[in-house]
Amino acid sequence: MAEGKKRTGTGIVIGVVGTLLVVFAAGLIVAYTGAYNVAATRDHTAFGRWALGTTMENSIQRRADGIEAPVSFSEAQIASGARRYKAMCAHCHAGPGIERAEWAEGMLPQPPHLTEHGNEWAPEEIFWILNHGIKMSGMPAFGPTHEDEALWEITAFVRALPGMTTEQYKAYGEPAEQGGAGHGH
Ligand code: HEC
Repeated sequence: MAEGKKRTGTGIVIGVVGTLLVVFAAGLIVAYTGAYNVAATRDHTAFGRWALGTTMENSIQRRADGIEAPVSFSEAQIASGARRYKAMCAHCHAGPGIERAEWAEGMLPQPPHLTEHGNEWAPEEIFWILNHGIKMSGMPAFGPTHEDEALWEITAFVRALPGMTTEQYKAYGEPAEQGGAGHGH
């Protein structure tokens, strides 16, 4: 009796390990033979899109958990963020009255129009995204080159984007000068 049980147990272990080896080997074959098409001109499958999108959302939500956003943002912060946005984001994410750059149309995933989607993320989440970027998507990390202060200003602006008119956007002025903290350190 006990012998029989033991044998079934061993059989299950061999089955599981065998299956894992087959899956691992399949992964190696895909990686080494070039079978998977990485072209940005070919959209993901529906499952691939769901898996990547869900992973991204949950990953960002979880990591933004410990961040504390300012209770509110000043008009000066939004204005400064607007000029930074014009310099570093608009060519990918567009803005009120302006299209994204032609080359950004060829990206996969496509950078969303933040005039419509800026409010879908909490300020802590936007701050995290700006700080760390999103791997394998083309969304850069700005944390390595920018102070938190600058990232909060851009966050403030992104949150203010939905509903902003073309005139308001224009009135914020010229794009900020690129390059680091913007405060000389
Ligand atoms: C080179 C193009 C590029 C630049 C420049 C860029 N982004 Fe992105 N951004 C992306 C892409 C691509 C994604 C990922 C979209 C996805 O996976 O859904 C993304 C995602 C985001 C998201 C998450 C939105 C969502 O719903 O997916 C936010 C917020 C964001 N970017 C804000 C910014 C801001 C603010 C800047 C400027 C400081 C910026 N990005 C600069 C390409 C860019």
